[in-house]
Amino acid sequence: MSASEEDGQEPSDLRPEVPHPARMYDYYLGGKDNFPADRAAAEQVMAISPRVRLSAQANRAFLQRAVRYLAEQGVKQFLDIGTGIPTAGNTHEIAQKVHPDARVAYLDNDPIVLVHSRALLAGASHGTATVVQADLRDPAGILADPEVRGLLDLGRPVALLLFAILHFVDEESDPYGIVRTLVDALPSGSYLALSHGTADFLSPEQAQRGPAVYCAATERLTLRSKAQVARFFEGLELVGPGIVTVPLWQPEQPEREGDALTGIWGGVGRKP
Ligand SMILES: C[S@@+](CC[C@H](N)C(=O)[O-])C[C@H]1O[C@@H](n2cnc3c(N)ncnc32)[C@H](O)[C@@H]1O
Repeated sequence: MSASEEDGQEPSDLRPEVPHPARMYDYYLGGKDNFPADRAAAEQVMAISPRVRLSAQANRAFLQRAVRYLAEQGVKQFLDIGTGIPTAGNTHEIAQKVHPDARVAYLDNDPIVLVHSRALLAGASHGTATVVQADLRDPAGILADPEVRGLLDLGRPVALLLFAILHFVDEESDPYGIVRTLVDALPSGSYLALSHGTADFLSPEQAQRGPAVYCAATERLTLRSKAQVARFFEGLELVGPGIVTVPLWQPEQPEREGDALTGIWGGVGRKP
């Protein structure tokens, strides 16, 4: 059964025949909300970079530790852009364990993410979390969106979450300008938390072939170096341990072999 049939819904712009990063990521994480084209593309990437599945899991675990950390710092508002298809331990579930009244605005540009997220939010937490179809490449539109403005008070600290999304924003789309526009709109005491794919630990051949698979997908992949990822945090105070591979950000378990070579950089910065 296809992902949309399971839902009983068929959004017209799903384009199941074209691999989509959200559904490929769902496949890496062992989810069921993906189509044959997504699985085939994901298998191609896994053949080129066998660690990609572990990296996706490590990214998800980092998101959860970071959200809990941010909630423990007193942040009660979250702007989570590039939400992904819901899986265990979503942002609102983690944040609301610390602050039952925490508010989460989920934004994604993939219609299937919207379908699944809306189904998830039809439950108990409805009213403190919302899902909006939006594109990160339109930060002004995001900041002006009535649903976002209705849920989040931008006069009070907000955690801006950009997990595993900025590598789908190429240089021509001005990723640094986008992040600056969003961070500039948030008050002191707000945070930026992000993770970002990198080729820093790949062979030149892997670094070329992995992104090539995504060329056939709806979004291209732009891997960035640690120094390029650090630029997103300009003007912010990095929280310890700084920018590290995602398993090593405030880990809860002893370091395992390969953790330092996971191809995703992560960090959290506070706006002074
Ligand atoms: C790899 S998933 C990451 C999901 C989740 N943030 C996480 O880290 O577990 C990337 C998500 O970003 C979304 N995405 C990619 N480009 C986007 C854009 N320009 N605007 C909004 N969402 C985008 C995809 O649809 C997908 O759901």
